[in-house]
Amino acid sequence: MSEVASVLFGREDIRRRVEELGRSITGDYEGREPVLISVLKGGSMFLADLMRSIALPLEVEFMAISRYGNATESLGRVRILMDMRGDIVGRHVIVVEDIVDTGLTLSYLITTLRARGPESIAICTLLDRSVRRIAPIDVRYVGFDCPDRFVVGYGLDHRERYRNLADILAVPDVAALERDPGALTPLLAG
Ligand code: IMP
Repeated sequence: MSEVASVLFGREDIRRRVEELGRSITGDYEGREPVLISVLKGGSMFLADLMRSIALPLEVEFMAISRYGNATESLGRVRILMDMRGDIVGRHVIVVEDIVDTGLTLSYLITTLRARGPESIAICTLLDRSVRRIAPIDVRYVGFDCPDRFVVGYGLDHRERYRNLADILAVPDVAALERDPGALTPLLAG
């Protein structure tokens, strides 16, 4: 394993936990047809696995958003870079996220979605870094509690790299990765 990062959540643990989340959602939404909204790009790998673990008819939509500056500067204001195609009036929406950190981005997004008239909205995140939460948001489904360390892999990036790592790695020294952004390349497809 690299000195720059170590495995925080391995692929087998992720697989098992995602299946559990899928079973919970299947039970909670029995008789309904939820719309899963994936927030690009980080949530895409989680969505791909999660949706296969949900034994219900469902729809999938994608949105891409970007913050103005960092979370605190922007007060969570986000710009919608790509909106979903369908509408969510009267629908049961589940927003699928990679990680909820300050919660600012997501709370703004939820306000935007709520104005579109869904029957319900729930949040499902793979990682919850609740120690950094600023905006109080109700996260119904959490894969893992995440320590206060930068993470990459399984959809999460560092400067757009490493989304394709199968495990989730913690990067204790982000400055080292900044100095050598390719340091984790040997771990890809490993
Ligand atoms: P929040 O508004 O602070 O909750 O921002 C959450 C977003 O920041 C996530 O959807 C990720 O895209 C990104 N993010 C937060 N922490 C990390 C991390 O440790 N690695 C990679 N991306 C992260």
